[in-house]
This record gives sequence, C-alpha cells and structure tokens, in this order.
Amino acid sequence: MCGIVAAVADRNIVSVLLEGLRRLEYRGYDSAGLALVNETGLHRLRAVGRVAELAAQAEESLVAGETGVAHTRWATHGAPCERNAHPHISKGLAVVHNGIIENHEALRQRLKEDGYVFTSETDTEVVAHLIAAELEKTVDFFSAVRAAIAQLQGAYAIAVLRESEPGRVIVAREGSPLLLGVSPGGNYAASDASALLQVTRRIVYLENGDCAELTRTGYRITRVDGTPVIHPEVESHLSADAVELGQYRHYMQKEIFEQPVALSNTLEMLSTARSIQPGLFGADCEAVLRDIRQVLIVACGTSYHAGMVARYWIEALAGIPCNVEVASEYRYRESVADPQTLVVTLSQSGETADTLAALQHAKSLGMKHTLCICNVPESSLVRENALRFITRAGPEIGVASTKAFTTQLAALYLLTLILAKLRGRLSPETEAAELQHLRHLPIAVARVLELEPQIRVWAERFAGKQDALFLGRGRHYPIALEGALKLKEITYIHAEAYPAGELKHGPLALVDKDMPVIAVAPNDVLLEKLKSNLQEVRARGGELYVFADSDSEISMSEGMHLLRLPEHYGQLSALLHVVPLQLLAYHVALVRGTDVDKPRNLAKSVTVE
Ligand code: M6R
Repeated sequence: MCGIVAAVADRNIVSVLLEGLRRLEYRGYDSAGLALVNETGLHRLRAVGRVAELAAQAEESLVAGETGVAHTRWATHGAPCERNAHPHISKGLAVVHNGIIENHEALRQRLKEDGYVFTSETDTEVVAHLIAAELEKTVDFFSAVRAAIAQLQGAYAIAVLRESEPGRVIVAREGSPLLLGVSPGGNYAASDASALLQVTRRIVYLENGDCAELTRTGYRITRVDGTPVIHPEVESHLSADAVELGQYRHYMQKEIFEQPVALSNTLEMLSTARSIQPGLFGADCEAVLRDIRQVLIVACGTSYHAGMVARYWIEALAGIPCNVEVASEYRYRESVADPQTLVVTLSQSGETADTLAALQHAKSLGMKHTLCICNVPESSLVRENALRFITRAGPEIGVASTKAFTTQLAALYLLTLILAKLRGRLSPETEAAELQHLRHLPIAVARVLELEPQIRVWAERFAGKQDALFLGRGRHYPIALEGALKLKEITYIHAEAYPAGELKHGPLALVDKDMPVIAVAPNDVLLEKLKSNLQEVRARGGELYVFADSDSEISMSEGMHLLRLPEHYGQLSALLHVVPLQLLAYHVALVRGTDVDKPRNLAKSVTVE
C-alpha cells in the first residue's frame, strides 16, 4: 500500500512525479503529496483524494524543481486528511514512506522529549524527525538516514530529500517494495517499475536492508551499516500499453474481458506440447515434487480462494493431502510442520506482506520445498522462491482481482496434473485429453463472457439490495466465496458465501424475499444435492439467481432466475463459473455508481500487515 516516486534529474521533474503517482494510484488513493527542492528552497504540496487533485494544485502553483519525492497514500496511522498526507517535514527534510513503523510510539515519545513537535498522527513523521535528530550528530545526509533507519522496527520503503542538498535523494527499503530507475538524464526510485516506464526501463531492484543515494549522474547502494552492495541493472519488459485503459471504461472491465488472452498467454507453452512437464515450475521441480507428501497453500483474499479450489483438485486428482491457509493466520498460528511439505504461495502482486511473512514462517519451521504462483515476475515473492510459475495475465490494476484469479487457477491445475503424473495417476490418454481441455479454455471463457447482456439485466435487480447470499458446493464453494468477495468489495453490498449444505445450519434464518441468493450450479455430482438446498431457499421465499451449465438438469420456476453457461467444463468449470460472478459485481457497481477500480478503504497491493 502507498506508492512512492522519487527523482533527481537534469530537468523539472514535477510531471514525472505526477505521472508516476498516477501509475501507482492503485496502491492507495486517499491522499497524495510531493516535495521539491529548487533554488528557492523546499516546497510541499498535499491534497486529500486522488492524484488529480494534487496535479491541479501543482498546475496552479507553477512549482518546479529537479529533485523531488512524491507519495500516494493508503491510510494506516491517522485519518486520510491533508495533515496526515505525505511528505512529512522536519528541519528542511521531506520524507515519504510506505509501510508501518511498529516502534513509532516509543520513538515519538523520545523525540517529543527532545523537543520535536508533531503535526500529524502518522508513523512517518517519526522517521522525518529521527533523521533530523541524526543530522544533529553527523553532517552526512546518507549516514544520518542509515543511522535513523537502524532504529526502525517494522516494514518500510522511504525516500528522503533535504533542502540544503538539492540534487540528492536517499531511499531505503525493508519489507516494502522499492526499486531504482537509471537513465542518462537522471535517477529515480519507485514502488514499482510501471511508475518509471515514462523515463527509463533500466531497473535495479533493492533488497531488504538496502539504502541508496541518488544523484543526477549516478547512484550507490549500501546496506544499513554502510557496506557497499551492487545489484544488477535489468531491463523491464513491462509494456506501457498494458496499463492503458484503451476502449474500456474501467480496468476491472478490461481485465475481465482480457481473461481469454491472459489464459492463452499463461498456457502458451502447452500450445504444441505433447505432455505436461514439472520443468514448467522450475529446473529442480521434479525432484522436489517426488519428495513431498503433502501440500500447504498459503495466500490472501482472491488468491486464497484460488488455493481453496486447488485443494479439491490436488486431493481428488493427485491423491495428496492439501491444506489451504489464510496467510495472516498461518504466520502466527502454532502449527505442526512437516519438512516434506510443498509450501505453495499464491499472489497476484507478489508483494502481499502477510503472504511473504507466511512464507518466511514456513521456511523457519524447516519447510524448504517452496513454490510460488505469481503474476509479477520481479516481485519479492518470486525472488523468495526457487520454484515458481509466472502467470502471464499482464498488469492487473483494478483493485478487484479477476484475471489474476483465473490464471492462478490454470497454473494450479497444471501443478495438480504434474503431481498426479508423478504419482502414476495420470494415464497418457488422460494427459492428452487434459492438454486439449486446457488449450480450449480461453475459448470457453470467451463464450461465457457473451452472457454479459443477461447479467446486466440481473444487475439492475440487485442494485437496490442490502445483502446477498452466495451458495456453491465442492470446488464451486470457493467460487461462491469469490463471487461474494467481488460483490462486497466494489458494490458495498453485504455478501456472504456458504457451502450450500450449511444453509440449514444457520444462514437459512436470513433468507426472505429481500435476500437474493446466488447459486453456482454446474452439472457435477453435487448438482442434485444443491437443487435440494435451493428448494429450501424457495420454500422460505428467497429469490434465486442460478448459474447452471448448458446440460444441468434444472429448470426455471417462479422465484428462480436461471442462466446457463455455454459449456460444461468438468474439473475446470470453476474457472468458467467465476466469470459471470465477476460481471455481476461489475454491473451492480455501475448501477450503484461506486468507484469500480478504486473501491473505498481498499488498495491493490497490501504491503502492510
Ligand atoms: O496480490 P495478492 O494476490 O497477494 O493479493 C491478495 C489480496 O489482497 C487480493 O486478492 C484482494 O483480496 C483483492 N482485492 C480481491 O479482489
């Protein structure tokens, strides 16, 4: 959460900072700010709300400068208001920060006793004063920043400039992402590469514990204790077009409709393959997969739901015990570790703090077989795992995750098939059929997208509701969960999901004519059971919205609306059935007029605990 951009260049960098913030706005969007140093001193602008508000202020003030830091905020400490917006200033220093300083209260107390005055409730202001305090002891700006951050506990990425030293920015990272952008005309730092594509593709990824000094002509990286380090400069292959909206009104809409292409790119290696090989997950994958006797999947939010679907696959098809845990719970739970576990972390961003911490926790318990499925190749998660599968969904900007989910499912299905094959549970005939099925998947998803007009009609009926209940069974229960998450996240309608068999154990009490009940009803072995559960809803006056398959034996009746997906897709039907639920949430949000891509209180990349 929170986005940072910093620049030291041989020209006015206000537009670079603002464009960078626009690209990072998905990380947080409750306020924005920037600080610049020019020949007249230090200048700060801050605005509540979106980057556009800050840009308007910048235009009006005509402020300019060649050294600057900028920030878009997702509030953790202190309400989203101008007083708490970054940068925070102390004695001619301006600091922007992403993350959480856990020992901020103790530091604040000490600094107050030393006479520092606080004007915000943020933990960031502590960092600004702490660096100022260190500058009382040393003349060197870089050394002072390092001495200050050595006292910080928690996760952070920071960028700092100093009024008396134009042409110099110091940055540091511990736990929150930060990278450098290198170019002949200047040097930059940002939370992710998309913010810097406008000026350079030469990227240096900082590691935890790194600090760096940027000047117009160069940069140097050290550890917190001052030991120099060198990291490779790499070329970012991120496409600038991929983050444009194009013909679409919202990123979420674009990303829903990109799913056929995202799947086809993710599964591209299968286009001519005759078999599915463990090498898809990394060179040593086969040896690792032969050694394990259980799987543990750890993730958050939508990625967690993908893991829940995979559990059904891994146990049914590969015959391997599989557990799925919410990362924020797993990292603190006293669990029993088996070193012969494959720990699978799932993340779109690869920067989710809880998922990264859960992985570290698993490693610390002696589980060394780790594998990640991630959509961002240069992310922290990918760098932490020797075995990895990069989904090729392309940048996902909308806060509500869509194409990342379906591509994660595709990757998890591949993993399942490989595990099944290594255990002698996948005959060559079945493998060939599965390959064919996977190759056809993008077309199958494209056909589901054609249901949009009917879903739009349903959305009109939903828009006035306060609550909704989603039902599914088996591997479609996580799809019901995902549908409920999408709806609540972007429409603010309270939505819950239950395995349909649980209805009578409590949630049925909620059902009346005002409660729409959405059922995921593919033509699988549980369909008859689900139909009985739906009758229980009808008997209490609940209105049913059922997503069935073309061949599901289920018919429309009073109080039951039915939409049929064009194809029944066996094990992979979860991938198809999530698509109408994404569309439903999207269209309900349109009718309700909410901010689809930037729903209130949320951010795309959850880099704090
Ligand atoms: O980047 P990650 O996949 O690790 O993100 C995990 C969750 O924060 C994310 O899926 C979140 O739940 C989405 N907003 C859901 O749409």
